[in-house]
Amino acid sequence: MLYTIVTFGCQMNVHESEKIAGMLENIGYSYTDSKEAADIIVFNTCAIREGAEDRALGNIGNLKRMKKANPNKIIAVAGCMTQQKQIAEKLFKTFPFIDIIVGTHNLYSLPILIKEKQEKNKRIFSNVESGEVCENVPVSRTSGENAWVNIMYGCNNFCTYCIVPYVRGREMSRKKEDILNECKNIISCGKYKQITLLGQNVNSYHAPDYENGNFADLLKSICRLDGDFKLTFMTSHPKDISDEVIEILASEDKILKELHLPVQSGSTKILKAMNRKYTREHYLYIVDKIKNKIPNIRLTTDIIVGFPGETEEDFNDTCSLIEYVKYDGIFAFMYSKRSGTVAENMPNQIPDEIKNFRVNKILEMEKQIQKKKGI
Ligand code: SAH
Ligand code: SF4
Ligand code: F3S
Repeated sequence: MLYTIVTFGCQMNVHESEKIAGMLENIGYSYTDSKEAADIIVFNTCAIREGAEDRALGNIGNLKRMKKANPNKIIAVAGCMTQQKQIAEKLFKTFPFIDIIVGTHNLYSLPILIKEKQEKNKRIFSNVESGEVCENVPVSRTSGENAWVNIMYGCNNFCTYCIVPYVRGREMSRKKEDILNECKNIISCGKYKQITLLGQNVNSYHAPDYENGNFADLLKSICRLDGDFKLTFMTSHPKDISDEVIEILASEDKILKELHLPVQSGSTKILKAMNRKYTREHYLYIVDKIKNKIPNIRLTTDIIVGFPGETEEDFNDTCSLIEYVKYDGIFAFMYSKRSGTVAENMPNQIPDEIKNFRVNKILEMEKQIQKKKGI
């Protein structure tokens, strides 16, 4: 029996696909990279922008012919698209060859759902919400010498453009003890040189099993583990990164001198409308502090252009911020309207041509900065 997985979206999804792989291998499936050969295909979807959804829809739609040729092939759809009620229902209706829809909260029931599908031979739609962290899920790691480790799930921030809090639920931190045990196992097996801690907002980590077990404390405890490994983490929300974390980033040899610190916009007016809870000045204050402490820090960021109401002047503020920080890498996105978010109904939505122009300008700036730095 063979499986394959098609993954869209962020590192969180990449790691979750490793868990899907682990669960499938546990029930007797082996990996193939061929959709034709696979007995089960799992699509791990992303809902962050319309483009990501369209790519998933196109990929799933293409399977119609394959399913016709082999009706026993199981097609399962997981990930963030399945946690949006209307989208999940539409998927199930539009593509009658989808056998299983499983949500982000109950992903871990996939083996049970596969069994149910096989025994009862009926289509399954299961995206119930759960408020619990699920431990001891088998993982089949695929990211070379890097091992991903989730430290928290969900997000409480509700940036006005973002779908993540709706599809991933509220923040839930894993127990510090469970995280440390996973790290110990990763280090002792000898296959990995790097651990990357994952969470939508790692700086608001709060250990449910330790008093004062904040993110800085977790970083310190992982660095104290024996073994030769490097540690890094993502993503840091600028409003929550503490002096203590910056201090540890500077002083611990095991932590890579790199930080992904998404700014989204260089205009305080737009940041406010985005509900980011920091100003341009505060962001730059943090950047200066970090650069003073760690002059060789590798700083990267995310930027959204064309958020509703973004004027030429606001966009210029973003450009001047980029010019000042001189990032080592920029992920620039055109704002994409997400159903159910606050920004969906904001006035002054920006036309695509302007978004396009602005995103290209940022990519050009990034190139110039990298050229000057010799990257
Ligand atoms: N939790 C992380 C980001 C997760 S989403 C953080 O807060 O930084 C990754 C990136 O996608 C975001 O940083 C943002 O730049 C982008 N993004 C999110 N929603 C978007 C939308 N509706 N349109 C365009 N880009 C978006
Ligand atoms: Fe989305 Fe904001 Fe949460 Fe990041 S912090 S996942 S951008 S709501
Ligand atoms: Fe990640 Fe996309 Fe979901 S960015 S959290 S897979 S919406």
